[in-house]
Amino acid sequence: MKKFFALLIAALLLVTVPASAETQQTGNSDASAEPLNNLIENFYATLPKAKGDYKSRVRPIIVEGAMNTETEVLIKALKNPVAYCEMNYLFVAGTYKDYPVVVVRTEIGLANAAASTALAIKKFNPVAVINQGTSGGHDSALKIGDIVIGEKTIDWVAIKTAYSAAGGLADIIKQENIGTYAYDEASGKFQAYIEYFPDPTLFNIAFKVANTHKEFNAVSGTISTANAWLNNIDYINFLHEKYGSSCEEMETNAVAQICQNAGVPFIGIRVLSDNILHDDRYVPENATICQDFVLLVVEEYIRDVLKK
Ligand code: 5AD
Repeated sequence: MKKFFALLIAALLLVTVPASAETQQTGNSDASAEPLNNLIENFYATLPKAKGDYKSRVRPIIVEGAMNTETEVLIKALKNPVAYCEMNYLFVAGTYKDYPVVVVRTEIGLANAAASTALAIKKFNPVAVINQGTSGGHDSALKIGDIVIGEKTIDWVAIKTAYSAAGGLADIIKQENIGTYAYDEASGKFQAYIEYFPDPTLFNIAFKVANTHKEFNAVSGTISTANAWLNNIDYINFLHEKYGSSCEEMETNAVAQICQNAGVPFIGIRVLSDNILHDDRYVPENATICQDFVLLVVEEYIRDVLKK
């Protein structure tokens, strides 16, 4: 009898435990996307390693994603890909539509995104940087799979809270955004920016792609960045009302900041992998939708701007 129950429990476990972490839907309560990066080294090991320094007379377009799932489609689209590694960040250079493109796997979070972007700008001297990937919805009008073309980005935890005495819980909603520091060419100094804006040409091209490819539901909106994952509906509604936030993720604002420092045109484009305003699902596989869309933006940018 004992044996029978043991077998029954084992069978139940087999049915309920997902086969692989790579396809597991973790739910919003698990903010960690780390399992999605586990197999990346094997994947990159299949790519030819670059010999010597990057030598392209034409300045490449850089397209970034934080994780395996957010870069795979891009890398597969490259012709003659070669892999570089700097400080354990991975960069894959090749061509797309006969134009040089470098895919950067930034890793997760603001510091990694900033560091890998700075290294990529020094190493590849790009003509533009596109940061893309997954995000969580802050707008109930958006569903998972929809795309947000960043008309601006903010760091939603760059805040000064209102004073509250010990013993009382801090009312974080009473806050002022104090911005992040980036180089201002006019004054020759670093100054605080509450918002960063995309390069207008890249923004218009992304919009054109959205209008001509109705298979994507792409809208413009505010991308909110932080090393955080919100499951608090009131806080999400607050960010939506106060900043017009459309979605949250962990890299875009840091990349916008570094691109401003370097004077490199930038845009952020994000797909919704989750929207807790509707339900608790996290579908990281939606990352492919964003990459498909971004490849069309890259193609249009090459044709309309770079090859003209
Ligand atoms: N909150 C924060 N980051 C998210 N990401 C996807 N959904 C969310 C969310 N709701 C992205 C981040 C990071 C990884 C965890 O997935 O940009 O790279």
